[in-house]
Amino acid sequence: MHVLFVLVTLLLVSCSYGAVLRDLGQNHGKLIGSCANQGHLAEQQYAQILGQQFSVITPENEMKWAATQPARGQFTFTQGDAIVNFATSHNQKVRGHNLAWGEDNPSWLTSGNFNATTKQNLLKTHIDTVVGHYKGKVICWDVVNEAILDNPANGNVYKQNVWYPAVPNYIDLAFQWANQADPNVKLFYNDYSAEGSGAKPDAVYNLVRSMKQRGIPIHGVGLQYHVSLQYSPNIQQVITNIQRITDLGLEVHITEMDVSIQGGSGSQAQMLAAQATVYGSVMKACLGNAKCTAFVSWGFTDKYTWLNSNQMPLLYDTNYQPKPAYDTLVTTLS
Ligand code: G3I
Repeated sequence: MHVLFVLVTLLLVSCSYGAVLRDLGQNHGKLIGSCANQGHLAEQQYAQILGQQFSVITPENEMKWAATQPARGQFTFTQGDAIVNFATSHNQKVRGHNLAWGEDNPSWLTSGNFNATTKQNLLKTHIDTVVGHYKGKVICWDVVNEAILDNPANGNVYKQNVWYPAVPNYIDLAFQWANQADPNVKLFYNDYSAEGSGAKPDAVYNLVRSMKQRGIPIHGVGLQYHVSLQYSPNIQQVITNIQRITDLGLEVHITEMDVSIQGGSGSQAQMLAAQATVYGSVMKACLGNAKCTAFVSWGFTDKYTWLNSNQMPLLYDTNYQPKPAYDTLVTTLS
C-alpha cells in the first residue's frame, strides 16, 4: 500500500512537471525551440521556461549585422555569445540567424554608397568572420533571409535591398562563403509566407531547387510561419509544400512560428482555442515528415513578442502561464 502511494504520488508529480516540450520532441527526433532575446535572460521566469522547455534557441537579433558589425570592420559577439552560453549551459542547440538580409543592417552599410565590388567584399568578410566565430557553436545558419518579394511575378522575384541588384548572385555567394567558413554547419534559406501554395512558396521552391541542381551548398528551408487567425495557409497545402521541399533532399525547419489572434471571432477563450488548433496542425504536419527536423516559435511568452502583446501570438501568456496552444503542442507530441 505504501509503495502504491509513493508510485501514484510520483506519477502525479511527474505529470504536472512532466510536460516538457523538448523531451516530447526528442521522442520524435524533432528539435523544439524558441527565439530568445539576451536582454531578457536575467529575468528568472523567462530563463527558467526557456531553459526547461526548449532544445534549440534562435537569437532574435543578436547575430544580425547591426549587432555583430555595428561599425565597419569592428565585430562584436557579446550578445550572441550570451545566447550561446545560455544554450550550452542548458544543453540546447542554437540556430544562427542571419547572415544576409535587407533589414536590421547597420547604417554605415546601408548609407555607405558602396560599389558592387565593395559590397561583395563586405559580405564575404562578414560571413567569414561571423560563421568563423560561431563555428561548432551553431547547428545551422539562416544564410539568406527574406530575399523574395511578397508577390513575385513575371520573373521579378527578388527584393531590392543593400545586396540586390548590386550583387545579383549574392544568394549563391553567401551560401558558398558560409560553407567555406564552416563546412559542417547546415545552411538554410529562411522566409515568411512561403508555407503553403502560391507565387511566393513557388518562388522559394524554385530558388532552392535551382541551388541544389547547380551544386550550391544548401541544406534546408526555414518556413517562418508568422500567421494569424485571419490568415493562415491551408494545412494540406503546407504538408504538400514541405514534402516537395524535402523531396529535393533538403530539411525543413519551422523557424519563427506565431499565431496572432487578430481577425479571430468569438470570445477570447474561443480565439485562444482556435490559435491552439493552428499550432497543433503545424506540429502535426512537421511530425508527418521525417525531414522536418525543428519546430521553433518566435518567442514563447506574449510578454515579449515582435507583435503587439494584445495579439497574444505565443505559447505562454504575459504572466508566463501556459496557454491552450502550449497544451495542444503537448498533446500533439504525446
Ligand atoms: O538595438 C536597438 C537598441 O540599441 C535601441 O535601444 C532600440 C530602441 O528601439 O532598438 C534596438 O533595435 C531594435 C532590435 O529589434 C533589437 O531590439 C530594432 O529597432 C528593431 O527593429 C528590432 O526588431 C526586430 C526585427 O526582427 C528587425 O531585426 C525584432 O525584435 C525581431 O523580432 C524581428 O524578427 C524578424 C526575424 O529576424 C526575421 N523574420 C521576421 C521577424 C519578425 O519581424
